[in-house]
Amino acid sequence: MKKIAFITGATSGFGRAAAEKFASEGWSLVLSGRRLERLLDIKECLDVPTHIIQLDVRDAAAVKEAVESLPNEFSEITALINNAGLALAPEGAADVDLSDWHTMIDTNCTGLVNVTHALLPKLIEVGAGTTIINVGSIAGQWPYPGSHVYGASKAFVKQFSYNLRCDLQGTGVRVTDLAPGIAETEFTLVRTKGDQTASDNLYKGTTPLSAQDIAEHMFYIADLPEHININRVEVMPTRQAWSPFAIDRD
Ligand SMILES: NC(=O)c1ccc[n+]([C@@H]2O[C@H](COP(=O)([O-])OP(=O)(O)OC[C@H]3O[C@@H](n4cnc5c(N)ncnc54)[C@H](OP(=O)(O)O)[C@@H]3O)[C@@H](O)[C@H]2O)c1
Repeated sequence: MKKIAFITGATSGFGRAAAEKFASEGWSLVLSGRRLERLLDIKECLDVPTHIIQLDVRDAAAVKEAVESLPNEFSEITALINNAGLALAPEGAADVDLSDWHTMIDTNCTGLVNVTHALLPKLIEVGAGTTIINVGSIAGQWPYPGSHVYGASKAFVKQFSYNLRCDLQGTGVRVTDLAPGIAETEFTLVRTKGDQTASDNLYKGTTPLSAQDIAEHMFYIADLPEHININRVEVMPTRQAWSPFAIDRD
């Protein structure tokens, strides 16, 4: 059977690495993101059938339209990789610009829901062996300063994934919350609104996960025998762990 992965946020980081990994395994691809030049560039580099869609996942009508107008040869989706997302505002909650909170909710929660809702009928139609991989985060499980709405949005991703599993029981569609720890992508550049030094400093002197590490996990999950559902995977680099509780003292 021809296999097709629909990947959101394919212009960078995990999404781009996933496109390369699934292509190397012979899957066809539907790649989306807002930056068209990057989509064109990725398509050029891949030698599998690839359909690109310039798409902002926050726009429910555009998402619906993009899914409804998928060319026939890309319409039977085998894996949806809900990867598009971002963190903003590393400062504490009291100092955050409200619009940054809204952008994270609109992208990480509403955007993911928009794409899932639009693609569910297609996934259910294909049935057994199909997979939804929702990219959560360790921030959805563990609190840390400056995580505020970002972590909360990823907790939404985790619970939405579990709840979807209940409603998809009997359809054969699998759902996984894939929750990475620190990984070197453009994530911190976005979070700091373009501060390359801050981004470099975060990853300096340690060994973060790479985008390819996460792409390998995505492929492993999507390629499992159809009777196996991985509910949640939390992946940290070996050099990342928890810190002690913070105690406020006089
Ligand atoms: N890196 C980490 O440490 C880490 C850890 C845990 C979880 N995550 C999660 O992993 C996912 C991928 O992040 P990454 O680390 O690969 O970061 P990245 O390199 O910044 O990639 C983020 C991707 O999301 C896309 N995106 C952002 N907003 C979008 C929107 N409104 N509509 C469509 N696409 C949008 C971007 O594409 P365009 O800008 O072209 O639209 C880009 O392709 C995110 O959900 C993130 O929260 C990252």
